[in-house]
Amino acid sequence: MKSVVVETPGKIAVVEREIPAIKENQVLVKVKAAGICGSDVHIFHGKNAFATYPRVVGHEFAGEIAKVGDQAGDFAVGEHVVVDPVVSCGHCYACRIGRHNVCTSLHVMGVHEDGGFQEYVAVNADQVYKLPADLPWEIAATVEPFSIGAQVAHRGRLSGDDTVLICGAGPIGLIILQVAKMKGARVAILDLEESRLEKAKELGADMIINGNTTDLVDAMKEFTDGLGFNLIYEATANAKILATCIRDLPSQAGRVVVLGFTTQELPIRQVDIMGRELEIIGTRLNNHRFPEVIDWFKAGSVKPQEIITHTFPFEKAAEAFQFSDENPDKVLKIILKF
Ligand SMILES: NC(=O)c1ccc[n+]([C@@H]2O[C@H](COP(=O)([O-])OP(=O)(O)OC[C@H]3O[C@@H](n4cnc5c(N)ncnc54)[C@H](O)[C@@H]3O)[C@@H](O)[C@H]2O)c1
Ligand SMILES: [Zn+2]
Ligand SMILES: [Zn+2]
Repeated sequence: MKSVVVETPGKIAVVEREIPAIKENQVLVKVKAAGICGSDVHIFHGKNAFATYPRVVGHEFAGEIAKVGDQAGDFAVGEHVVVDPVVSCGHCYACRIGRHNVCTSLHVMGVHEDGGFQEYVAVNADQVYKLPADLPWEIAATVEPFSIGAQVAHRGRLSGDDTVLICGAGPIGLIILQVAKMKGARVAILDLEESRLEKAKELGADMIINGNTTDLVDAMKEFTDGLGFNLIYEATANAKILATCIRDLPSQAGRVVVLGFTTQELPIRQVDIMGRELEIIGTRLNNHRFPEVIDWFKAGSVKPQEIITHTFPFEKAAEAFQFSDENPDKVLKIILKF
């Protein structure tokens, strides 16, 4: 079989490997489609602190069952499935309280261990979710990024009552926008890239804010009558924006949900947190949210096709990564087809 391997930062190759053997609790998945995520690009550029090399990247992938282990449960060869890349230990504190996505020894396929950019992958059966056979493969590959949308909705207790700000209209911000609109919230969204803001408008954003031309605090005053946003998502990974989100933008009893993960320190004031009973909430990956997302896809309540801008055959992964680097105004999600 062929595997797409980031051999060292900056060097990607398609190599021949053995089809992996499966353990009795595993299934073999024949990969059909896989999405390129910002974090794959970071691993390619050597900018992900968690990744080791050589690495088969890719944590957004779907395919067909090709083989079923004796103890893997109710799967049949040919069934369409999607794989949750989160692997946890099952017995640390986070796992015991039902938060396995922040397991002490968390492993993510495509980051800490080999992932989905290869023709076959051996996967633990409990990470595998069945899909309707008529769901197009490239859509199936977006279940994982939409699971981030589901997770952040839970973490922020997103409801139709909320006035929401999303900082960042990248693929993830645009997914959060779709989830927030599905729930009936009023949503403003911030970015610097006009094409992404236009996409946000098409997807139902009630206000788009171009940070190059509009002051965020002024926009807040206009959109919320000066009351502040009830729920803010920080998905630009800009520490200064997070500081503004905590200090200047929330309402009383507001929540700020943090998706970015820079290591930059920022000044925050106790009074801004205490005075509003502000909640600053972290969110990481997803905590068993795939079934919820598959239900959204079945019901047509979100539009995953709106996030997909390009497809490439997987053998051209190097070109796809380069295209993504060179066209930030055009690319949202590239899907590799197998
Ligand atoms: N916590 C998690 O589980 C999780 C999961 C997925 C992604 N992420 C993170 O969420 C973030 C968003 O992911 P993405 O794939 O959409 O990334 P992305 O880089 O495509 O999107 C970020 C967007 O923020 C905009 N931006 C950057 N600086 C800005 C500024 N100063 N003002 C206004 N806009 C600005 C960019 O133009 C871009 O459109 C990334 O930091 C990613 O690492 C976190
Ligand atoms: Zn991703
Ligand atoms: Zn654990």
